[in-house]
Amino acid sequence: MKAIKTARVIAVASQKGGVGKTATVTNMAVGLVSLGYKTAIIDMDAQGHIAFSFGIKKNNIKKTIYDVLIGKAKMSEIKQNAFGVDLYLANTSLNDLTSIVMAHYNDKRFPAPNYLLKNAIGQIKALHDYILIDTSPSNDLQTMNSLLASTDIIIPALPEGLAIDGVYDTINLVKRIREQGAKINILGVLPTMVQDYTNLHNVMLQNLRKSFAENPDVKVFDTVIKRAIRHGIAQSNGLPNIKNAPEYLSFVKEVFSIA
Ligand SMILES: Nc1ncnc2c1ncn2[C@@H]1O[C@H](COP(=O)(O)OP(=O)(O)OP(=O)(O)O)[C@@H](O)[C@H]1O
Ligand SMILES: [Mg+2]
Repeated sequence: MKAIKTARVIAVASQKGGVGKTATVTNMAVGLVSLGYKTAIIDMDAQGHIAFSFGIKKNNIKKTIYDVLIGKAKMSEIKQNAFGVDLYLANTSLNDLTSIVMAHYNDKRFPAPNYLLKNAIGQIKALHDYILIDTSPSNDLQTMNSLLASTDIIIPALPEGLAIDGVYDTINLVKRIREQGAKINILGVLPTMVQDYTNLHNVMLQNLRKSFAENPDVKVFDTVIKRAIRHGIAQSNGLPNIKNAPEYLSFVKEVFSIA
């Protein structure tokens, strides 16, 4: 009997902003596509930075993941494709999710508000090898939906004091979610924007590795993403290209044990 294929769903999340979540999702996706995997991104951040990162203008997004979550569209209706990646985009409308769910509290239109994304992913999980979710740094309904829909999580972190604190906050959030019965696996912590010519970053990176060395649940990846202007340029030009981000290709190979 042929096995039914189902995607791995990976949230890239951190309770800290500006740590490279969107850059990681974008480059992992084009990296996976370059290796021949069917890959999708779902943007669960109302900032809508995935559209921006793939060069898609706001005016060219009519329906978004928000419309799917509230039952006004199917995933197939909102799908776009750029650079080989299937994109399920977001914009500021996603900010309305909590208020619409609350407004329908009494009529039970949304009986399971934390599982809206998981249900939406049910429509597409046989179509992809990997589905990556870009999340916002807040602990809101969108992030809750993202984590409860995921098989795995990757936590990007700068090797700096406050950013490392964001790693612990994110791990604690995952622990709370596991208490609700979700089987989310922490794939690991990805050091990002590393300036390895500074003492601070080298010391903090060592401390990060040491503090998780004894923890069987959380690994710090061998691959590190250095700070490099080419990442910012790719994002602001909306031109992702794995050839300009080879460290992310090493990263996807490390994460998914691809030779
Ligand atoms: N390795 C890197 N080197 C230099 N700049 C980077 C790198 N990764 C990301 N950037 C830039 O840093 C900024 C923040 O990155 P990014 O948007 O990926 O973070 P984020 O965690 O998604 O932020 P937010 O929490 O706002 O969603 C962006 O301008 C991005 O282009
Ligand atoms: Mg982002």
